[in-house]
Amino acid sequence: MQNKKVPFAPIKFSRHVLYLLDQRKLPIREVWVACRNSRMVWKAIRDMIVRGAPAIGIAAGYGLYLGVRHFQGDQKGFLKTLRDQGRFLDSARPTARNLACALERIMKAVHCAGDRSVEELKKLVLAEAIRIHHEDIDLCRKIGVFGSELFKKGDVLLTHCNAGGLATSGYGTALAVFYALKEKKIPFSVFVDETRPLMQGARLTAWELQKSKIPATLICDNMAASLMRAGKIHGVVVGADRIAMNGDTANKIGTYGVAVLAKVHGIPFYIAAPSTTFDLKAKTGEDIPIEERPHHEVREIQGRPLAPKGIKVFNPSFDVTPHGYISGIITEIGVLRPPFTKSIRRIGTLLEKS
Ligand code: MRU
Repeated sequence: MQNKKVPFAPIKFSRHVLYLLDQRKLPIREVWVACRNSRMVWKAIRDMIVRGAPAIGIAAGYGLYLGVRHFQGDQKGFLKTLRDQGRFLDSARPTARNLACALERIMKAVHCAGDRSVEELKKLVLAEAIRIHHEDIDLCRKIGVFGSELFKKGDVLLTHCNAGGLATSGYGTALAVFYALKEKKIPFSVFVDETRPLMQGARLTAWELQKSKIPATLICDNMAASLMRAGKIHGVVVGADRIAMNGDTANKIGTYGVAVLAKVHGIPFYIAAPSTTFDLKAKTGEDIPIEERPHHEVREIQGRPLAPKGIKVFNPSFDVTPHGYISGIITEIGVLRPPFTKSIRRIGTLLEKS
């Protein structure tokens, strides 16, 4: 799956079929799932065959095309179907802003296109979905370049969950920083939180970093504190699912704990995310919906039971890190610094123009 532009390519679209690398099966098996309609794409997002905020936005874009592809009727009916399909796909997972952002962008492109035939509008939907997919590579590369300027030779960095190529079009956000450091031949190494309950760190980030020959050490989630206290971590870089206008950031459950630890130990804590992750309507973290996932994900590991049957479970998939714990947000336009209410306005202007 490696190509020149990106280390990983977890999403492919060819001849009206969306192919997704099944991330539930990694790193044991590399299996591709073919989605031929929007229901299959919805399910792939919901079941986390494809996961990671930018990646689910990209998949949803193609899903929207598959949802209107066979429409027969007039323009008014087409626009209604487009809206309905957009709402349907957006309901797959609630926290990542990139999902709605991609769908809204395609619908806006259709509405701005003026009076076109239904067949032309279908082509336009596909063209916009492809553009979103390809643009994400450039956004991630820019994030990598800006992020790599924050660290120096010998630094040891920590990351949580998977904000890598697998979570995007192939280059990642937090991991883009690591890929850029490697490209610049700056020696560094990474500690990877395993990230319970679904183990995205152990299964996906460890796999990506190993394949990319970046020195990485896997740790359990409860080990970061003692490493920080021992002075063994010099910086934290994680991704984001949704960023409020004051800088409060939702990311994989456990991120908030890592941020608190970093603050207590005086370690810089960075979020890496493209502008598509910012939610202009969310003033603070209170406005971010947090997904709760099925209980078996906590009771089991990869289908194997590890807790008593029927034990009560709480399984929020994300938490919100308040802006006060964040040293900077690495975006494609540069590193935003506190006070975020001011620096994030630049992103707002960018998003309003697009
Ligand atoms: O539940 P997941 O695996 O989709 O959660 C992913 C994360 O929390 C990532 O850190 C985030 O989406 C950023 S991906 C570039």
